[in-house]
Formats: sequence, C-alpha cells, structure tokens
Amino acid sequence: MLGIETTCDETAAAIVERDPGGRGHILSNVVLSQTDEHAAFGGVVPEIAARAHVEVLDLLIAQAMAEAQCAFSSLDGIAAAAGPGLIGGVIVGLTTAKAISLVHRTPLIAVNHLEAHALTARLTDEVDFPYCLFLASGGHTQIVAVRGVGDYVLLGNTMDDAIGEAFDKTAKLLGLGYPGGPQVERLARHGDPNRFALPRPMQHRREPDFSLSGLKTALRLEAERIAPLSDRDVADLCASFQQAIVDTVHDRLRAGLRVFTDRFGQPNALVAAGGVAANQGLRRVLRTLTDKAGIRLIVPPPELCTDNGAMIAWAGAERLAAGLTDALDTAPRARWPLATVTHAAARG
Ligand code: KG4
Ligand code: ZN
Repeated sequence: MLGIETTCDETAAAIVERDPGGRGHILSNVVLSQTDEHAAFGGVVPEIAARAHVEVLDLLIAQAMAEAQCAFSSLDGIAAAAGPGLIGGVIVGLTTAKAISLVHRTPLIAVNHLEAHALTARLTDEVDFPYCLFLASGGHTQIVAVRGVGDYVLLGNTMDDAIGEAFDKTAKLLGLGYPGGPQVERLARHGDPNRFALPRPMQHRREPDFSLSGLKTALRLEAERIAPLSDRDVADLCASFQQAIVDTVHDRLRAGLRVFTDRFGQPNALVAAGGVAANQGLRRVLRTLTDKAGIRLIVPPPELCTDNGAMIAWAGAERLAAGLTDALDTAPRARWPLATVTHAAARG
C-alpha cells in the first residue's frame, strides 16, 4: 500500500505491507517537513503549504517507491489522506493518488487523517479492538473509542484550542520559535512549575472534554503582569503552563477511561497519538494513569506519532482488508469528523 499525507505542513509518502496475519511492515517512510517555510509566520500558512506539497510530492513518492524497491504494478492500493485538513494540501495529495490509481488500475482508498492516527497503534504493536485513543496534535484534542476499522466513537473533544495549538500560542506569546511544543518543553525543564497559579480547566467534570483557551489567557495575563520578562520568568511560565496541561490531561483522561469502561468495558490499551505525545511530561502522566488503572499503554515512536505517510498507508491497508475502497470522484474534505467515517463504513 502506498500512503500519501499532505493535510498540514508535512509532505509524506510511504509503502507499508500488511501480512495475512494482520501484522504491518514499513518498507519505506519519507517525510519532508515544511517547518522552515512557515517559521517566519509563527504558524502554518495554508497557501505556502499547498504550493510546497505540489513541488515535492512526486519526488517523495518516487523516493518511497525506490526505497521499498516497489513497482507501481505491485501495489494493491493507493491511499491518500482525503481530510480533515488544509484543503489546498488535501487536494494535492488526493488528486495525485487518484492519478496513480487511474493509470495503474489500482484501488483508491481515501483515508480520514484522524482514522490513520487512530489505527497506527496496530501497525506498531499488536493490539485488539476496542482501545482508547488520546489524540493530541496541533489541530486536534480528542478521546476516541476505537472499536474496529471504521468504527469510532468520539468520547471527548476540545471546546476551543487543541493542546498543540495551546503550546504553539504560548510559545509565540513568549517570543519562542515555531513549532512551540518542543521549545516550551525544553525551557520548562529549568523552570518552577509552581510559581504561577494557572487554572486546570474542566477539572472534575464527568464528560471528558477539554477547554484550553482560558489557560492560555491566564498565562498571557501573568506574563503581562510581570513584563518585561527575564529568562527565569520565561522558564517559570513554560514550566507552570506545561504542569497545568499535564494535570489537565491526567484529569480528563481519567474521566475518558471511566466513560469508556462504562460504555464498552475495559479498553485493551490506552493509545497516544499526535505530535504532543512526544512531550516527556505528558508521557510520564500517561504511564502513571495506566499503571494505576491496570491498562496497557501504547505510545508509538515520535516519528509515527507526528504526521507521516506510513499511518495513511496502514489505514489504507486495514480498510482494503475490510473491503472498503473509494471511487475516483471522492471529494477532498477540510472538515471530516471521525463519526461520519463510521457511518460510511457501516453502509459500505
Ligand atoms: O501531529 P502533529 O505533528 O501535527 C498536527 O498538528 O497534525 O502535531 C504538531 C503539534 C504542534 O502543535 C507542536 O507544537 C506539538 O505537536 N508538539 C509538542 C511537542 N512536540 C510537538 N507539544 C508539546 N511537547 C512536545 N515535545
Ligand atoms: Zn495529524
């Protein structure tokens, strides 16, 4: 399976094999990040992203095919992320996949980007359904019950900012670079997490939802109050912010696992995905939480947590194995909630 990812600021292509036993093998996985092209703007600029995808996608696909020593004629399917994401980039990836599918008469699989994050754990680790997914990226913060291929139930979501977005906005406010998550984490290591009393939004609510814009505002007010900021102030703000996020995730995931267990029984694992899952503080709290609950924790390696082609190829392979393919007139989608994927699979 060839997988193509172009929904945000990574252009990626990969070849993945799914053996008859359902185990996955990554034959190649090429990712080109556009971070440098967006850094000056402090965030992803959609038009720049779309143009950058056009420039390199053909070359990346050729590289992925060469590294996997794979010919187009030996592919069983072409998978592309058809959304959700920045529409210009999605069009580039999906149209390219359609062209290859048409020319080589190979099935097209239009993959939901969130579904791909959700299924990655089955590529890296042997895990059966159902499991609980915690997806924390620059665009999404969701707790999902993954019950099968094409069977997802959204348990919790963010009301406003995504976690990665909150890290990025905090970094921007403090004059740190983009993407902000790694910078905030680096400075937080030398800061005092207790210096600023930041809120833990939604704490103790039964519904496992998130709200992070109030935390961001509280941080801004503290920063304005003590400005101009010394290096120590910045480190303490980063540490206090990260601690508030970690405490919030702990509380919200505990609520999420409770709701999961009530509705579907004990999950076979808690799976983390998305760029924010690279954060060490967050990984520690996931470990604490799952140890206490007696649940297996799966955190795929960072290169498979962030956006990549292998996750798209793998989701394509899982869908193809379930007999789910797509027509060449499938539309690219800026918005595409996971719940509607479930309906499509049930009909298909
Ligand atoms: O999944 P991802 O690569 O792209 C999408 O958003 O789809 O996630 C990127 C996000 C950015 O917001 C980035 O700041 C955040 O993940 N991130 C982190 C860390 N590494 C990346 N956030 C906190 N700590 C990190 N170490
Ligand atoms: Zn993503």
